[in-house]
Amino acid sequence: MKLAFIIDPIHQLDPCHDTSVALMEAAQSLGHEIWVTQANLLSVVDSKAWAVLQQVELVPVQLVEGRWVAANSWYKLSDRFLTSLETMDAVFMRTDPPVNDSYLYATYILDYIDQRKTLVVNSPNGIRKANEKMYALQFTKAIPETIVSADKHFIRQFVEAKEAAVLKPLGNKAGEGILFLQSGDRNFNSIVELSTLQGRIPVMVQTYLPEAKEGDKRIILLNGEPIGALNRLSSGTDFRNNMATGGTVAQTNITDREREICDQVAEQLRKDGLIFVGIDAIGGYLTEVNVTSPTGVREIDRLDGTRLGHQVIQWVEQTVQTNLS
Ligand SMILES: Nc1ncnc2c1ncn2[C@@H]1O[C@H](COP(=O)(O)OP(=O)(O)O)[C@@H](O)[C@H]1O
Ligand SMILES: [Mg+2]
Repeated sequence: MKLAFIIDPIHQLDPCHDTSVALMEAAQSLGHEIWVTQANLLSVVDSKAWAVLQQVELVPVQLVEGRWVAANSWYKLSDRFLTSLETMDAVFMRTDPPVNDSYLYATYILDYIDQRKTLVVNSPNGIRKANEKMYALQFTKAIPETIVSADKHFIRQFVEAKEAAVLKPLGNKAGEGILFLQSGDRNFNSIVELSTLQGRIPVMVQTYLPEAKEGDKRIILLNGEPIGALNRLSSGTDFRNNMATGGTVAQTNITDREREICDQVAEQLRKDGLIFVGIDAIGGYLTEVNVTSPTGVREIDRLDGTRLGHQVIQWVEQTVQTNLS
């Protein structure tokens, strides 16, 4: 197969951590051609999606004493070619959020790929539909008590009733802008004003789950099926568990309750073409559905001895074959 990955500039990726690199490596080791491009290098020509693509050859990372180690020059790029994306068997949209104008317009360009010719992971339509924070709210049995609002008084009422809450900007990732809220906080009004841009944009406010101290679990779903999980613990100086805020990772398993959550979301994810997804669960509650560029594969593979990247690429192989036949 020929596979294109839309990624952030490759020199910015961390081969030991980034799932995009794990997927590309898996594809290479399964004998496929890997091409890379960026959101800003996509075009529409004659109503078809094109991209400036470079073929990439990777030096795979090695597990040395429980840590991934990469070569200094871990990738080699070919010349650039302006190519129709329909010459690819599959295209992975793996640009990191935020979902800003550049991101959004890239998804509109990807709409001009004929899905019968080229599989797009995840579906551009699905990515646009699924705000990573708000998509979870439809699974009412799975989520903690949550409001979305720009109204300071309403937010205060909610927080007073809950005693403690977490405020989340709707468009951020990796713990950015996540704030712990208590109604007695002397900065309460300022926090809400800053986060809502003086009441102009809504934020998510969610009941604080004390179980977060035991971890924020990342579960990777492939076409709705859980294929691996990882626990993230906060650093101790921060309440946030994100890896990007200094959180550490630990091996874990998927509980019965978490499997129920996966069952609740699976059908909708499949309907929305959200094939490769990372859900976050705290204390048995669904808190986030990551669809843009979910990560965790390197850490799960390291802790569990799995090869999740291979599973994903093999699923793509089968799907592409079935679509063609
Ligand atoms: N309801 C909650 N209760 C306690 N902590 C939470 C809650 N929601 C989020 N957090 C904390 O904030 C971090 C980031 O939250 P999340 O909703 O996953 O947003 P993102 O990872 O996109 O920044 C989590 O790892 C966790 O530490
Ligand atoms: Mg998260």
